[in-house]
Order: sequence, then C-alpha cells, then structure tokens
Amino acid sequence: MKHPLIKIDEIPAEGTVVVPFFGREVHVYKVNGQPKAVANTCLHFGGPLECRDGKFICPWHGAEYDMQDGRRLKAPARPDARLMVLSTRIEDGVLNYVWGE
Ligand code: FES
Repeated sequence: MKHPLIKIDEIPAEGTVVVPFFGREVHVYKVNGQPKAVANTCLHFGGPLECRDGKFICPWHGAEYDMQDGRRLKAPARPDARLMVLSTRIEDGVLNYVWGE
C-alpha cells in the first residue's frame, strides 16, 4: 500500500520541507540526492524538530539528531534513540510512503 507525500521536484536541494502525514508531520529532504522522510517528532518527549546546521534540533530541551540516519547526537533523548524514518518509493515523480509490501 502507498500514500503520496510530495512531488520530487518540490523537495528542496537544501534544508527540509514539512508535509502532513495522517494528522502528523514529516520532514522530507535529500541525502546525497536521495529523498528521505523522517517523522517530525523528537524521541525525548515528542517535540517538533528544526533543521539547523545540518542537524535536527528539538527546541523544547535541545536534543539533536543526525539527518542522514536519524541517530541521536545530543541528550536529553536516550543514547540509543533514532528518529522514525519512513519507508518510501518514488513513482511517477512522486515520493510515496509505502507499507505492507
Ligand atoms: S522533547 Fe525534544 S528534547 Fe525534549
């Protein structure tokens, strides 16, 4: 099954674009030219994430995450925390969230 997120040509070359996702939000961006979609949810206490200085930073308590693989870089999120990365597939110029395949 699939759910469209955004047209590929609407994904910025730098930074992220936030798109709606079943009542929540995901950051969509490119890593080495490849689109990536990450839930806009800090794993400390659920705060939103800001893209700054090549990292995701949570303004609530300062946790930081790597944009390439979602791993936690800075507390107070747990050391083993990793952001939720969506499984995706490109079809007809659209980035889709896919599941159950
Ligand atoms: S909710 Fe993100 S650092 Fe606390």
